[in-house]
Amino acid sequence: MESVRLLFLNILIVFCTCSASPPNFVLIFADDLGFGDLGCYGHPSSLTPNLDRMAAGGLLFTDFYCTSPVCSPSRASLLTGRYQTRSGIYPGVLYPGSIGGLPLNETTIAEVLKPLGYATAAVGKWHLGFGANGTFLPTKQGFDKYLGIPYSHDMGPCHNLTCFPPDVKCFGLCDVGTVTVPLMYNEIIKQQPVNFLSLERTYSDFATNFITTSAKKKQPFFLYYPSHHTHYPQYAGPGAAGRSLRGSFGDALLELDTTIGDLLTTLEKTGVINNTLVFFTSDNGPELMRMSRGGNAGLLKCGKGTTYDGGMREPAIAFWPGTIRPGVTHEMASTLDILPTIARLAGAKLPQVMLDGFDMTEILVNHGKSIREAMMFYPTDPNEIYGLFALRLGKYKAHFYTRGASHSGTTPDQDCPVFAVLKAHDPPLIFDLEADPSEHYPLNLQGRPDLQALLERIKNVKQRFEASMVFGESQVSKGTDPNLAPCCNPQCSPKPRCCHC
Ligand SMILES: *[C@@H]1O[C@H](CO)[C@@H](O)[C@H](O)[C@H]1NC(C)=O
Ligand SMILES: *[C@@H]1O[C@H](CO)[C@@H](O)[C@H](O)[C@H]1NC(C)=O
Ligand SMILES: *[C@@H]1O[C@H](CO)[C@@H](O)[C@H](O)[C@H]1NC(C)=O
Ligand SMILES: *[C@@H]1O[C@H](CO)[C@@H](O)[C@H](O)[C@H]1NC(C)=O
Repeated sequence: MESVRLLFLNILIVFCTCSASPPNFVLIFADDLGFGDLGCYGHPSSLTPNLDRMAAGGLLFTDFYCTSPVCSPSRASLLTGRYQTRSGIYPGVLYPGSIGGLPLNETTIAEVLKPLGYATAAVGKWHLGFGANGTFLPTKQGFDKYLGIPYSHDMGPCHNLTCFPPDVKCFGLCDVGTVTVPLMYNEIIKQQPVNFLSLERTYSDFATNFITTSAKKKQPFFLYYPSHHTHYPQYAGPGAAGRSLRGSFGDALLELDTTIGDLLTTLEKTGVINNTLVFFTSDNGPELMRMSRGGNAGLLKCGKGTTYDGGMREPAIAFWPGTIRPGVTHEMASTLDILPTIARLAGAKLPQVMLDGFDMTEILVNHGKSIREAMMFYPTDPNEIYGLFALRLGKYKAHFYTRGASHSGTTPDQDCPVFAVLKAHDPPLIFDLEADPSEHYPLNLQGRPDLQALLERIKNVKQRFEASMVFGESQVSKGTDPNLAPCCNPQCSPKPRCCHC
């Protein structure tokens, strides 16, 4: 009897490993896109038909968080499943000539999947370092292939960017005085300056090609597509410029949405759509200082640069026909949870380091409960003396410090702009995010033993978390060396103007 059972088990195991090919993953990361920016999140004039289609056929998150209100730290957490303080991607962001980058001993999602034979590619905005001779490029972090701009597309003088069609005026000058923005292919500069007007098409073609090639070879794949849209300066190439109802921001978003449509079509055509998890979210909240050209946090408070929810709560959609049922989840989840979830779904080993992410498979496939009980909010310049600025436990969020940010300027709410200086709160300001998602009405703890007990619990979770936090050496504080900035013509002079090929 026992041997029959064993035989049966063996057959089952063999059957499972033979028939179920590991799933593919497409991870799309928008830039400075707010909670209120997508059609499926209620924006009245955004045109996002493909994201709306994903939302209608997939799972839409209402309580999904990134880990930082600015770019590089948020990306470090997404790819490693660890708060940016551990990997040292703080304060602020990396620059073209930055000496540091995401340390090579950090394990990225791509590196988690490589041992299982996955094909891996990154296309778009990296922003986790360039370094001497491209030390920190994606190809050094588990990606077989990379095509893209290694940092933000405003980190260089604006070059023929928003001038098409001719009635769309250039907006600002971006970073005059640095090298023009390069397009990298793996570790080689393919174009400098990049042709912005055809960039999206170039990305779309690269991604299509990668999916098609992998599908033909029946090789499981991981495509990471961090888009430069909808970061400043907002623009679109000829396919989307002037076509949205929402001006330059709307055009940029439409261009991103169109590429997402191309990817979905390719997944369908190559027959792998039912075996692919497509996940979409954004790196941080909207850059409100760009006014009508910036994004929109919807009903959330403030935006980029702040630890209010507008800075870090993001649209997120998981799409996997046949595996993820359509719906909406109010469970708390985070970019931190993507690495452990992908590892679980692929059957990969987790990196042997302190992870801050939790497997969210149960949320995805069963619309189940989150394992995550809390979310931590670090400012753009975290340090061990201040520690966390805020902490969400269940539906409650406690602010120990609040501060506005230049990125969130121009809003009527006086808590958002840079003039709102650092304020300590003891006891912390506590909001019930279910009753008051806009963080308008702090709870009055007086005469409320239940809330006093909640405060004790919040303090305990904070203390436990902070005791586990070992700050990695700051990579951004290593500074910049203009000679490290990518130059297609390294011996030329005078720099940076001569870096032009
Ligand atoms: C990477 O190396 C640095 C420097 O040796 C070390 O401090 C850090 O803990 C290492 N990180 C990981 C994830 O192993
Ligand atoms: C980059 O590599 C070249 C060739 O190996 C070398 O000559 C140069 O010194 C390196 N540059 C830096 C900044 O390390
Ligand atoms: C800018 O783009 C337009 C439209 O594609 C093109 O005709 C023009 O030559 C470009 N100018 C420069 C300086 O590249
Ligand atoms: C995916 O599954 C659906 C529903 O079972 C089916 O109609 C469709 O043909 C499948 N698509 C592919 C490309 O296999």
